[in-house]
Amino acid sequence: MNILMVAGESNPFAKSGGLADVVYSLSKELVKKGNNVSIVLPFYKKIKDQHMREHMKEYELVKTFPVYMSWRVQYCGVFRLEHEGITYYFIDNEQYFYRDGLYGFDDDIERFAYFNLAVVEFVLHMQLKLDVIHVHDWQAGMIPLLLKTDFRAAINYYVPHFVLTIHNPAFQGKFDPYYLGDFFNLSDVYYRDGTVRFENCASFLKAAIMLCDKITTVSPTHARELLNGEHAYGLQDVIRLREYDFFGIVNGVDEEEFNPRNDERIFVKYDEKTVLEGKKKNKQELLKKFGIKNPDLPLFGLVSRLTSQKGISLILDAIPHLSGKANIFLLGSGEKELEDRARFLRECYSENVAVYFGYSDDMAHKVYAASDYFLMPSNYEPCGIGQMIAHRYGALPIVRTTGGLKDTVIGFDGNNLNIADGFSFDDYCLQGLLGPCLSALDLFAYRDERKKMMQNAMKKNHSWSTSCELYLGVYREITGKKS
Ligand code: GLC
Repeated sequence: MNILMVAGESNPFAKSGGLADVVYSLSKELVKKGNNVSIVLPFYKKIKDQHMREHMKEYELVKTFPVYMSWRVQYCGVFRLEHEGITYYFIDNEQYFYRDGLYGFDDDIERFAYFNLAVVEFVLHMQLKLDVIHVHDWQAGMIPLLLKTDFRAAINYYVPHFVLTIHNPAFQGKFDPYYLGDFFNLSDVYYRDGTVRFENCASFLKAAIMLCDKITTVSPTHARELLNGEHAYGLQDVIRLREYDFFGIVNGVDEEEFNPRNDERIFVKYDEKTVLEGKKKNKQELLKKFGIKNPDLPLFGLVSRLTSQKGISLILDAIPHLSGKANIFLLGSGEKELEDRARFLRECYSENVAVYFGYSDDMAHKVYAASDYFLMPSNYEPCGIGQMIAHRYGALPIVRTTGGLKDTVIGFDGNNLNIADGFSFDDYCLQGLLGPCLSALDLFAYRDERKKMMQNAMKKNHSWSTSCELYLGVYREITGKKS
């Protein structure tokens, strides 16, 4: 099948969160199963200045054309690059994308309006004979409407099928309906008839929910939450309209990248049999570098963006209760207030608390390998990737039972040692989190039991293969194609 993924980010070129991992890993798996997959992304400054500079010869300028945004005429260049069997297309326009960072600018709506219009032009110009256009999150949400209403597509009887995956419902691409005309060349009828209308604004995400053939989110539990209005950010009524075409498919992780048996980034490699010794050594090496006095205490690790979604304030509240009995390693960066509190706690509890601000793949692998327990008490979590990576490294996740965390972690309840691979709690409050943390500390003394749970975690199947089959099932259903 010919599949085009459209997103604001994808590994290994542009990443702000889990979306980039998913777009890339799912595409790789689809290629492995014999499909043609392309990914189209904005040509961000970082890609141009870093990757392109080093791999000049691999980039090919395949097309240039104007993009009309009512009175604006914007340049678009399309660059092509082959990577791991996937064809990447980069949409080049320096006014919009030659900046530091991916999102968060005042003109994001205009930037992504341009991106959506440019992708439509590109699809029509290149005649890619696509079976499916798979759009991810709001940044690609207007493409179905633009393509379905484009007279050139109609003349050529070109109607590709669309799938939308919602990775984070908090971001909806809301804008003043005036810009339907001013950016998208669209009539306000799409606002009046409700196609794009959401909470008295127009919304990229609403348009995609209304017009894609199928809609997915990244775990079955989160799909139920969106329908029930839990962490749905007001989208429940819209999603209910499409209830029969909507479901959850859990993400996987790249099992080659995250494998303690042959991971060059960690201090000592290990497998299920050597997990206890392996962890101990990784822990000692990592904590030595951060001046922690007693590295043999249990280690709680965190690798996350420091945002309120991730439950970071609960972890910060828990530190005074855990310090002395355990060490805590925090890796991440994000909201200033949370960073400041983490800095303060590191000062107060310097014997037990280490913090690495920022993100580094190298450090992240080391933290997963060193941690006995992995903290992920998210307020909401459509899927979550950290808990699955933690499993791969035998770090037992401590999660709140929300979204994908509920679907991927089996909490220890005292009687399920044969299957438990982490700890879980329901109530989003400090006492809620402390419960499983204290059970985890108790378990630390029971070597065999701890090892058994770590082995359950390491043996768990988080490969992309199964989820990729489910996506293929969706593509087959909407296209009527067998392969
Ligand atoms: C978003 C969600 C996260 C999910 C990721 C990839 O970042 O917050 O839960 O794992 O997308 O789908």
